[in-house]
Amino acid sequence: MHSFTVELKERTYPIIISDDINDFSEALLRSCVGKKIVIVTDSIVSELYLQNWVEYLVNLGYIVVSYIFEQGESSKNLKTVEGIYSFLIENKIQRQDTMIALGGGVVGDITGFVASTYLRGISFIQCPTTLLAQVDSSVGGKVGFNFCNIKNNIGSFYQPKMVMINPDFLKSLTRRNINGGIVEILVHCLISSEHLFEYVLDHIQDIYSNHHDILEYLVYENCKIKSDIVCSDEFDYGKRAILNFGHTIGHAVEAVSEFSLTHGEAVSIGIVGAFILGEKLGLTKNGEKEKVISLLSSISLPIDLKGFDIDTVYERILYDKKSHGEGIEFIVPISIGHVERILVSNKELIYSVLTDLSNRTE
Ligand SMILES: NC(=O)c1ccc[n+]([C@@H]2O[C@H](COP(=O)([O-])OP(=O)(O)OC[C@H]3O[C@@H](n4cnc5c(N)ncnc54)[C@H](O)[C@@H]3O)[C@@H](O)[C@H]2O)c1
Repeated sequence: MHSFTVELKERTYPIIISDDINDFSEALLRSCVGKKIVIVTDSIVSELYLQNWVEYLVNLGYIVVSYIFEQGESSKNLKTVEGIYSFLIENKIQRQDTMIALGGGVVGDITGFVASTYLRGISFIQCPTTLLAQVDSSVGGKVGFNFCNIKNNIGSFYQPKMVMINPDFLKSLTRRNINGGIVEILVHCLISSEHLFEYVLDHIQDIYSNHHDILEYLVYENCKIKSDIVCSDEFDYGKRAILNFGHTIGHAVEAVSEFSLTHGEAVSIGIVGAFILGEKLGLTKNGEKEKVISLLSSISLPIDLKGFDIDTVYERILYDKKSHGEGIEFIVPISIGHVERILVSNKELIYSVLTDLSNRTE
């Protein structure tokens, strides 16, 4: 078991990583002060894990109701949000009650958003079940949904009361899904830890074979990296922006693919784009791009934009919420473990990065 605290003054909360459900009980009883708990989950996770969790929470003395929505990014929309609001009203959920997000990043983001707005805010707990959600999205309080096919453009900052992470959930993930988590792990490595990057390189196969200690270590280290960044800039006015490494192009590609690419796959392309941009700007150390591309392609993550209409991707990038009047902010790699925020006003340069991504040959 590992645990630590995300230090955010009155919004401070614990992250507990354990494969023994009982390790969560004490903190959970402290966090959930009302009688009722609403579990929000999706159609796949509910089949696998919902019953166990309902029994566990009932044994702790709570009245538990569950809301299940269709799995996948295409459910991360206003319709699902409305469905959950109606369910909360039907079940007479009060301010002191708690919501638990049992699922991946989609469930976590949408549940957190509903919790942040229902009755002007009720408590919620993250119980992430994908690698991506365990190493990234469950920590930091960014919650929201997609609107008009634009990623995460409606949302708020709302911290959970606690994060309960059981690495055992990862056993039932597909390889494609694990890759989504590996990409976010790589984002953390590339922005802040060369050492962790080397560790991932050395242990990549252990991640797929579900090596318990290695996964627990990786989840812990990644939550720490994310938490440290979030604690230094909770509301994304400065340093937190570096977490968007690979996401400026990634979010655009994800939307243009109409979500046929996963978030992680799209960010994988975005990471390569960030390295191409860094090289074009003369900022990225020689040889770093190749190291990263070699890792991404060795685990079959996409590294180019073949088949995409780059004009459409380009237009989508211009829509990006990180787009400023005078340019677009990119997180540019300097070397593995170091990045800088760069405002790019030369639109031809951005277009040329997309052209290179489209023409990649390796
Ligand atoms: N809030 C943040 O800071 C933040 C950060 C990164 C990503 N995100 C968001 O996270 C989302 C992507 O998250 P995701 O990849 O977890 O997607 P997801 O929630 O759609 O989960 C992916 C798939 O895995 C299934 N699944 C979940 N847990 C499982 C398990 N244990 N076993 C088997 N199948 C399981 C789900 O049903 C789904 O089909 C995107 O919407 C992205 O925008 C948010």
